[in-house]
Amino acid sequence: MHPHIDRILYTEEMIAQRNKEMGQAITEEYRDKVGEEGIVLVSVLRGAAIFMADLARCIDLPLEMDYMAVSSYGNGTTSSGRVRMLKDLSTDIEGRHVVIAEDILDSGLTLQHLLTILGQRKPASIQVVALLRKDTPNQIDIPCFQTGFVCPNEFVAGYGLDYAEHYRNLPYIGVLKPEVYAK
Ligand code: IMP
Ligand code: MG
Repeated sequence: MHPHIDRILYTEEMIAQRNKEMGQAITEEYRDKVGEEGIVLVSVLRGAAIFMADLARCIDLPLEMDYMAVSSYGNGTTSSGRVRMLKDLSTDIEGRHVVIAEDILDSGLTLQHLLTILGQRKPASIQVVALLRKDTPNQIDIPCFQTGFVCPNEFVAGYGLDYAEHYRNLPYIGVLKPEVYAK
């Protein structure tokens, strides 16, 4: 285990199992709704890129993968309350079935903002699949079609999730030792 990780919450195997289940649920949900054009799977960079890459391979439907980047965190561990769009989609989503793959839902601000922006583009539908939903007080009520795990209100890292751009390549998700970011 990485020395900065206090304890592992979700192992590589647990994540792979949930991805398989969520991929199957997505496949069933959209099988009769989409034709050859398939769904548009949207990942919120950078944290959700690893999750989306794995989830996509668990979905048995035609799909396009596209990326957006937003930032609300800077290098801290608590939400700044502001969401900045850093990169927009390349795909025109009008009339398309969109699935947003998000790494973690914390305050809910990021997803609220994205749902508002993407909703204005007249997609046929938009749903959210979140790998983690943090048990955060006063979280904005964001409906998730699928949630991988409900995680404790602690700062977690690994499997795409970073602290100051580190730890994204850990294959598991664990709680970061508070002394790492207290410094
Ligand atoms: P929200 O806008 O507060 O819901 O925050 C969502 C974003 O904050 C996520 O997409 C993550 O990039 C980041 N985030 C929230 N909690 C954590 C965490 O515990 N570890 C790493 N990143 C986090
Ligand atoms: Mg993120």
